[in-house]
Amino acid sequence: MKFLVITYGCQMNVRDSEAVTALLMRQGYERAEGEADADIIVINTCSVRGKAEAKALGKLGLLVADSRRNYPDRVIGVMGCMVQRLGEELFKKVPGLGFGIGTHALSRLPLVLQEVFEGKAPVLDVDEDDDPEALTGHVEGNLSAYVNILLGCDRRCTYCIVPHVRGHEWSRPADSVVAEVGELVAQGVREVTLLGQSVMNYGRRNAVWPEGSTSAGGYETPFPRLLEAVDAVVGIERVRFTSGHPSGCTTELVRAMSELPTVCEHLHLPCQSGSDPILARMRRGYTSDQFRQAARALQAAVPGVALSTDIIVGFPGETGEDFERTRAFMAEIGFDNAFIFKYSPRSGTPAAEWPDDVSDEEKMRRNQVLLEDQTRRVEAINRALVGQDVNVLVEGPSLRNAARWSGRTRTNKVVVFDPVPGVERGNCVDVTVDRVTATTLYGGVTS
Ligand code: SAH
Ligand code: SF4
Ligand code: F3S
Repeated sequence: MKFLVITYGCQMNVRDSEAVTALLMRQGYERAEGEADADIIVINTCSVRGKAEAKALGKLGLLVADSRRNYPDRVIGVMGCMVQRLGEELFKKVPGLGFGIGTHALSRLPLVLQEVFEGKAPVLDVDEDDDPEALTGHVEGNLSAYVNILLGCDRRCTYCIVPHVRGHEWSRPADSVVAEVGELVAQGVREVTLLGQSVMNYGRRNAVWPEGSTSAGGYETPFPRLLEAVDAVVGIERVRFTSGHPSGCTTELVRAMSELPTVCEHLHLPCQSGSDPILARMRRGYTSDQFRQAARALQAAVPGVALSTDIIVGFPGETGEDFERTRAFMAEIGFDNAFIFKYSPRSGTPAAEWPDDVSDEEKMRRNQVLLEDQTRRVEAINRALVGQDVNVLVEGPSLRNAARWSGRTRTNKVVVFDPVPGVERGNCVDVTVDRVTATTLYGGVTS
């Protein structure tokens, strides 16, 4: 029996899709090449914006119709955040589904499938009693891997649906995280990204370290301690983590980022807005000045650090002046990358009760302005790299042109270069940059 998982949404969903893929393979299911040879298709869904849900619903509608006509025995199922949000309503929106499985039930996917095959469709499982340690499997053959360290979110940003669909913060024990990284390295993984919605909150709600254990580097808070322990895993080349929050950018975290050799000079630090009244109404838990202090501390202690961010335009009540403050703030911080989103009201969140008073046209305009600024900014940042050597984790032939190879810098920039004898996928090499665009650095391997 062959299955296909199609993923929408953030890195957590990418990770969940991989974990259920590994789980199903352990149960004897095989991966399909594409939709045509799949007996089971699972869509992993995201609820963060209306558009994300519309896209998944559209895809599901098409898949159900196509399966009815051409593959009557095929099972179409849904997993993830949208299942958690909609529950039974999902089956009304898309009649003909085989199952829906929520964010806290994924380890039961084989049982749910069994029920579907026994004729019980549609089966819904949105119970919250999953065992996260049953979901640590990975698919072999990758250079980079995501590792969950903190599930859920206890912040309540007023626009955000994530806490509703992902539940409370819970941190995995440090020793199981470190063991998972060790297994990944044994499978050939060179780079890990530690995942949590507010990842620096790791170990804040539940104990993660054995009582009485200490850190060699004198780290006292759980997250920098975890970075130290993951850095110490023999064979790991690069460690990243996402998403950051200014409150977690403590002296200790900054020290860990500057001291630990595998921890990359890269941090995703969503700022959402540069205007204090908007930040307060978003309930982000920092002011623009606190964000600035966090960014400056990192930039001072970690030379060349690349900061990326998320921005929401058109939040309720965002005036032209608020927007210009965000624009100026982004220029001041000098982000290397920015994901810009148009505000989308999510029912059940406090902001959804407020008038969505910035027109879609104006949201679009603000989005466009920030994107253009950002492209110019990153071009200038990248131009400054011409003539310099950057360290690249070699991924192999580039997607666009197989005659050239590609990889990423420690700052997470894509580098394209000519292959040279003796350099293989998984190696780290220095590349001298000779040309750049906003998205790519080009160069040659330093001899
Ligand atoms: N936990 C992460 C964010 C996860 S959601 C953090 O706090 O940094 C990813 C991004 O989606 C957010 O950073 C935000 O920019 C955007 N987002 C979340 N809810 C949104 C909404 N209702 N409308 C538009 N964008 C939203
Ligand atoms: Fe959402 Fe805020 Fe939690 Fe991020 S920190 S997931 S934006 S509630
Ligand atoms: Fe991620 Fe979307 Fe869920 S952003 S946590 S997949 S709602």
